[in-house]
Amino acid sequence: MSLASCSWILLAVFVLVILNGYCIFGEDPYRFFTWEVTYGDIYPLGVKQQGILINGQFPGPHIECVTNENLIISVTNNLDEPFLLSWNGIQQRRNSWQDGVLGTNCPIPPGQNYTYVLQVKDQIGSFFYFPSLALHKAAGGYGGITIQSRSVIPIPFPKPAGEFTILAGDWYKQNHAGLRAILDGGHDLPSPDGLLINGRGSSSFSFTVDQGKTYRFRISNVGISTSINFRIQGHKMMLVEVEGTHTMQNLYDSLDIHLGQSYSVLVTADQPAQDYYIVASTRFTPQVLSVTSVLHYSNSAKGVSGPPPVGPTTELDWSINQARSLRRNLTANGPRPNPQGSYHYGLINTTRIIRLANSAPIINGKQRYAVNSVSFIPEDTPLKLADYLKISGVFSLGSIPDSPTGGGGYLQTSVMAADYRAYIEVVFENSEDAMQSWHIDGNHFFVVGMNKGQWTPASKLSYNLRDTISRTTVQVYPKSWSAVYMPLDNVGMWNVRSENWARQYLGQQFYLRVYTPVNSLRDENPIPSNALLCGRALGRKP
Ligand SMILES: *[C@@H]1O[C@H](CO)[C@@H](O)[C@H](O)[C@H]1NC(C)=O
Ligand SMILES: *[C@@H]1O[C@H](CO)[C@@H](O)[C@H](O)[C@H]1NC(C)=O
Ligand SMILES: *[C@@H]1O[C@H](CO)[C@@H](O)[C@H](O)[C@H]1NC(C)=O
Repeated sequence: MSLASCSWILLAVFVLVILNGYCIFGEDPYRFFTWEVTYGDIYPLGVKQQGILINGQFPGPHIECVTNENLIISVTNNLDEPFLLSWNGIQQRRNSWQDGVLGTNCPIPPGQNYTYVLQVKDQIGSFFYFPSLALHKAAGGYGGITIQSRSVIPIPFPKPAGEFTILAGDWYKQNHAGLRAILDGGHDLPSPDGLLINGRGSSSFSFTVDQGKTYRFRISNVGISTSINFRIQGHKMMLVEVEGTHTMQNLYDSLDIHLGQSYSVLVTADQPAQDYYIVASTRFTPQVLSVTSVLHYSNSAKGVSGPPPVGPTTELDWSINQARSLRRNLTANGPRPNPQGSYHYGLINTTRIIRLANSAPIINGKQRYAVNSVSFIPEDTPLKLADYLKISGVFSLGSIPDSPTGGGGYLQTSVMAADYRAYIEVVFENSEDAMQSWHIDGNHFFVVGMNKGQWTPASKLSYNLRDTISRTTVQVYPKSWSAVYMPLDNVGMWNVRSENWARQYLGQQFYLRVYTPVNSLRDENPIPSNALLCGRALGRKP
């Protein structure tokens, strides 16, 4: 062996040792955020309103990070109400302690702070954060989250010239306390007053692009009550990612985005140099509301012209067909190199089927919303804390059935028990006329099927067991069902909820307790040393 090749081998060994050392001893990078939450005047629909701002901003600051990074987010609550932020689609591996919903965390009292410690472990994609309590979401307090792929893992398309985050959704002129009073009074919310794109409804937000270049738009529906359709005048959108799944790169004229969902598309500025409308409009609503913003070419010769492009004119069939066209790119990398190659979600046998039917019962003379007849009511103590500190009487396992009962509705602090590492099927059944959107925290699931009518075991024959997307939020069309397969590989207390905020607030949610008797740090992080205590956990040592 020549001296040269020998030294190459030595160098290779040296590099391996370093890489190895990094993997074992190296910590993933940290990013620090210090946020102050306040009320402030905002004018999204042209009238003054009390908004919820983060560091004076609405929408709040964007979180930009890379797979596996640690996010240290210190939040000071300067509202006059208890406050929590939650992280839509961030999986919180082993870490439901930081999920920021009432079942996992004590609210941050007015004037106090709490530091969230999250890790975006094994994730990529487009998500958002939002305030989870007391209809705060209707006042803002939300912002985008982008998890970029690590530089060593190629993405399945050329790096775009730039990225934009679009937070779109419905909006009410009434402030959150007024909306909350309507719900507390036992009524549903009225229709929203308008739609916003990045906090603006009356004046247009503008996105500047260079002619000939390709940009990535990450779009989330951050609204509280309606699905939206999204489109850009004169431009096609190439879908590349859905909530962390790289998709088959199909072209769309417009996309239906349901409550809580996130999509990313590539748009090439390949049209004559002028300005173009970007439009979001409501879907599945009696009256169509819309908002426009502007795609501005940097060398634009003229402003927007012509009517803004219209959305699809039919609802259910169009939308369901589009939903079925979303496919996983089986050769594309995810957070790790090509994980799909070894993970065949469709070949694993499910060991349990959970059927969840939504309903809108009147309970004690008031409008409530329920799942399998149970309308969730929160307790004074977070369920996760009660579980950990073994405080009895807060909740009981099995307080929501696995299948619809067909009965009326009743109030309950509902928690469903589930085994760590089980592989389950969940069927969302919607016999109502209303559009539904379901989200499961701490997990992702494979959307194997959806169709009109009643689900039956024979519906399984139509499942896509080959190349469907996995995501965290699935729509359920009126008088239809959606089925998902879900690996329960994350120990914790996880919120399963409607992303329709009136329904969520009035009980259409519950908690899934993914449990293992093995008490190991490999399976679950210890309780954070800074955990806030409240209710029956007050004065207990974490
Ligand atoms: C959070 O509150 C603690 C205790 O009151 C205080 O020591 C700390 O400085 C606060 N942190 C921030 C970022 O405000
Ligand atoms: C799928 O991903 C590969 C990268 O592995 C990419 O080259 C290809 O264009 C993608 N195909 C489609 C149809 O999206
Ligand atoms: C799934 O179940 C079928 C039928 O019971 C069985 O034949 C098959 O081996 C199982 N597959 C796996 C991966 O366990």
